[in-house]
Amino acid sequence: MRIVHTIAELRQALAGSTRTAFVPTMGNLHEGHLSLVRLAKEHGGPVVASIFVNRLQFAPHEDFDTYPRTLERDCELLRSVGCNLVFAPSEAELYPEPQAYTVQPPAELAGLLEGEFRPGFFTGVCTVVLKLFNCVQPRVAVFGKKDYQQLMVVRRMVQQLALPIDVIGAETARAEDGLALSSRNGYLSEAERAEAVQLSMTLKDVQLKLRRGERDLPAIEGAAMAHLRGRNWQPDYVSVRRRTDLRPPTAEQLAAGDPLVVLAAARLGTTRLIDNLEV
Ligand code: PAJ
Repeated sequence: MRIVHTIAELRQALAGSTRTAFVPTMGNLHEGHLSLVRLAKEHGGPVVASIFVNRLQFAPHEDFDTYPRTLERDCELLRSVGCNLVFAPSEAELYPEPQAYTVQPPAELAGLLEGEFRPGFFTGVCTVVLKLFNCVQPRVAVFGKKDYQQLMVVRRMVQQLALPIDVIGAETARAEDGLALSSRNGYLSEAERAEAVQLSMTLKDVQLKLRRGERDLPAIEGAAMAHLRGRNWQPDYVSVRRRTDLRPPTAEQLAAGDPLVVLAAARLGTTRLIDNLEV
């Protein structure tokens, strides 16, 4: 496995490859990231992973400075799952000057849910993902369903800008108790880690109610938020949406059985966690 830090080295290493599979990450890798690399390997071409903590997608009050940077260990893990090339640019390499050209995803998708609580987040994500795509020029890119809205926003960008890339969605990797794996889980105290399972349990409960035929979404969502608040969480949202566009289903769409997903974001102490479950 080769590790490169500049765009020039990356281009040289990949010269002539038309089947590159790409897994963009911000590092501090866990089993969820590694499952993406394994999926990318199935494609047959060289697998490239990027490690870059992207300042553009962090608001000033967010955790850019404290986000864990564990390059050496990340590279060991990537080597262990057969990754071929790691692209780990410095900030000066990827953003040698302030990034003045940016990708503005449509508010109708990127303004909902995460976009409502993290204004500018998806602009930062789309801008770095497009730039990384231009550096790596992959045939295939793998993203996790853990970040469901991100996957959809990237898919739409690829489609609308006619990028010649297949975007593959990978299932969410979870700890044994059900907590979705996340680099931010490392911020949790021992007591918070034990409590964190409540987020996926809350989603499971919403899923169960819907499967049983309950249809009063405001009541279901309200009960889920109240449950979390009662346990000292600060939920931003627990929301049942259409899988196709992340909009709330109308009564007719609900009755017609449109595929749904329930998404949640909530803070436990100072750590903000997100999760979702297809219903
Ligand atoms: P990061 O949070 O490091 O995640 C990198 C990729 O791993 C994303 O596609 C994410 O959805 C996926 N992932 C994270 N946890 C997962 C889990 N438990 N199961 C399956 N997949 C999981 O997402 C980002 O970085 C950034 O926004 C990025 C796309 C790299 C742009 O900066």
